[in-house]
Amino acid sequence: MSERYANIVGWGKYTPEQVLTNADLERLVETSDEWIFKRTGIRERRIVSPTENTSDMAIAAARDALAIADVRARDLGLIIVATSSPDYLTPPVSSQVQHALGARDVGAFTLVAGCAGFVYALTTAQQYIANGVCDNVLVIGVELLSRFVDYTDRSTCVLFGDGAGAVVLQVSNEPAGVLSSVLGSDGSGAEHLILPGGGTANPPTHETIDQGLHTLKMNGNQVFRFASRIIGKALRQVIQQAGLTSDDIDLFIPHQANLRIIESAAKYVGFPEEKIFINIDRYGNTSAASIPIALVEAFEQGRAKVGDTLAFVAFGAGLSWAAAVVKVAERVKPIPFLHSRRKTPAWISAFNPLNTVVVKPLGTVLGLLQAGIQRLTSWFRRNQS
Ligand code: UT7
Repeated sequence: MSERYANIVGWGKYTPEQVLTNADLERLVETSDEWIFKRTGIRERRIVSPTENTSDMAIAAARDALAIADVRARDLGLIIVATSSPDYLTPPVSSQVQHALGARDVGAFTLVAGCAGFVYALTTAQQYIANGVCDNVLVIGVELLSRFVDYTDRSTCVLFGDGAGAVVLQVSNEPAGVLSSVLGSDGSGAEHLILPGGGTANPPTHETIDQGLHTLKMNGNQVFRFASRIIGKALRQVIQQAGLTSDDIDLFIPHQANLRIIESAAKYVGFPEEKIFINIDRYGNTSAASIPIALVEAFEQGRAKVGDTLAFVAFGAGLSWAAAVVKVAERVKPIPFLHSRRKTPAWISAFNPLNTVVVKPLGTVLGLLQAGIQRLTSWFRRNQS
């Protein structure tokens, strides 16, 4: 059996329309555009409207990713939603997304790994594909932190924004897609980035609300130190694991939390400025959504293309971190006709001559036809941009 790789074949994002600028924040707390930009690299961030929820953003990003991938929701093998800000504690937001997409009976789960959630989810999806369990997996990173931010606390409210990004991973025979990954966690730093109320430790009461435990608390300095210590090393490790050097990486797409942290990680592994993708100035820190939003923009701007090798690194609550090396390949492998989700009825399989003479050749012809159409579509796409 040939190796199974998990290639990124579709991508989409959703960023709310409403822009919250540093000037707007100057009117809310004692801060300045100069301080925020100099210390973080942020100029503005997006905030959802009161009628939108996490699921709405996830669904919008997912629809675009499925359209680009040319994969129907019902042909997905799995949906993973990475978020720390779901619509509800239960049911899982992944099921809301699965239902809204029309991905009937498709398995779905929500994965919580703070800002590193998308890279954790990507790695998980890759395993399902590599092990032959699924052919197509939808991975979404989405965050609506503005509902948990205390807009009187200048040390956190200037940082976070809302948004969603999604990718479709598809099985491929080419050595491409997620080539290596590193996951890490250090719970000793849990209190440095925490939403103390609303869980089992501090269930919501009038007291927890009065104490403001329902809003995000961060010891920025500690998180900064942890990130500076860990992510350069994780990057170096993940590149080595892929059997590559930093020269082989075409684009570095880091978690957009702080420009100074990004630059120090890039310096540690020796990435020149032109290899770093930065959009923190326009979106702030969108946590689990930051890498997929940046990835989509990199594709849209032609900074990431077929054939490129990308490096991701993220860190955040947990404390946790994750890195991955991803090669973007041409979509070449046809989705096998009569795939396991559309199994041959038992009565056909039982009647072997019919299976051999009609079903299998028909499957091969349709598979080849599908491959041809896919090749033509990607040729068109390439020549359009
Ligand atoms: O996705 C992971 C999530 N978290 C992060 O990535 C956060 C990582 N940490 C950081 O990005 C930085 O630590 C911050 C941007 C949060 C803060 O920058 P800093 O250089 O570490 O500042 P600081 O916390 O050491 O504070 C320096 C000063 C303090 O004043 P004093 O005590 O020196 O008088 C703060 O009170 O800056 C003050 N300060 C502000 N001043 C103006 C803190 N926030 C603000 C603000 N505007 N918004």
